[in-house]
Amino acid sequence: ALIESPDLAVCKKIHTQGEVVIETTCCPPNRKKIVDFVFETPSRIRVRPAVQHMTVEHIEKYKEATRRMKALDKDDPRSFAQQANVHYAYCDDAYSEMGLPQMPLEVHKSWLFFPFHRWYLYFHEKILRSLIEDDDFVLPFWNYDDPSSMTLPSIFDEINSPLYDQLRNQDLCGSTKLINFRSYRDDPQPQLTDTEIIQNNLRVMRLQMVTNSKTTQQFFGGKYIVDRPRPNHTPGSLEMFPHNIVHSWVGSKSTPKGEDMGSFHTAARDPIFYVHHTNIDRLWGVWKDINCKNKDPDELEFLEASFLFYDEKAQLTRVTIKDCLNTSALGYRYDNVPIPWLDLDK
Ligand code: C2O
Repeated sequence: ALIESPDLAVCKKIHTQGEVVIETTCCPPNRKKIVDFVFETPSRIRVRPAVQHMTVEHIEKYKEATRRMKALDKDDPRSFAQQANVHYAYCDDAYSEMGLPQMPLEVHKSWLFFPFHRWYLYFHEKILRSLIEDDDFVLPFWNYDDPSSMTLPSIFDEINSPLYDQLRNQDLCGSTKLINFRSYRDDPQPQLTDTEIIQNNLRVMRLQMVTNSKTTQQFFGGKYIVDRPRPNHTPGSLEMFPHNIVHSWVGSKSTPKGEDMGSFHTAARDPIFYVHHTNIDRLWGVWKDINCKNKDPDELEFLEASFLFYDEKAQLTRVTIKDCLNTSALGYRYDNVPIPWLDLDK
């Protein structure tokens, strides 16, 4: 059976994960009225750029839009805090599968990962666009898979900017420290030169995007079908590396669970979350482009699975996975940037 959009009225404030009791006040607001998603008409295509290629004007708009989103009333589902809660609620067992209160809904570690985050970014971007009344506005992407972009992007590193987040790994300040795709934050940090780190990162990219993702299931992760118990959930290759690593690398070293970026419940409170995920979203497309055998799942349980998001008018909107598989239909594409890991010798 299909995964249906969750019943927002049932958002648990206390639940358990294995032995651990999780208590939270992070449930997004609920609205009874649900509208079905419709494509924008007339359709158009906007180009999301790499963060290091943004114009000064674009950067200012991005900051202003984020500032306005943060300034919205905290109960407004479009506010930055509630946007973060939407991510939280879908991933930390707060929601359940429709009609199955005993089955927590989780969008990570399965084939829901790519489409859920694509839709999430789509609405986030649309809300930002409407807050500055600029129909051309797009989110950028942080292409940490390219040596020129393996540090914390500098626009996120200015202390009084709306794009700043205090709960980050302070070692990354100053934007000269390279991200290392082979090391989690708690691992002892090996002494590697920058050249070695870059080479390792490129190898990890090639491994996860090519060698370890020859089948749809390897790339997307396990199937997610109603009522199937949690142990069957396996993350896809890109979700494991470098997606998870980027989260844990950016999160603070002095918070209990690596908050903000290092933990599901707080990750989307850091504005950098959105440019991390636009890159993951871009790499989904790259994977399909580099080999004609690379295809999205075609099972009905995938195509018809649905989620609920708030749109720029704060209306609760139901979307299905099949409507997000072609980004041009959603009105965007990614700027072409080099793919330096593609032709690496193995
Ligand atoms: Cu929903 Cu990068 O996690």
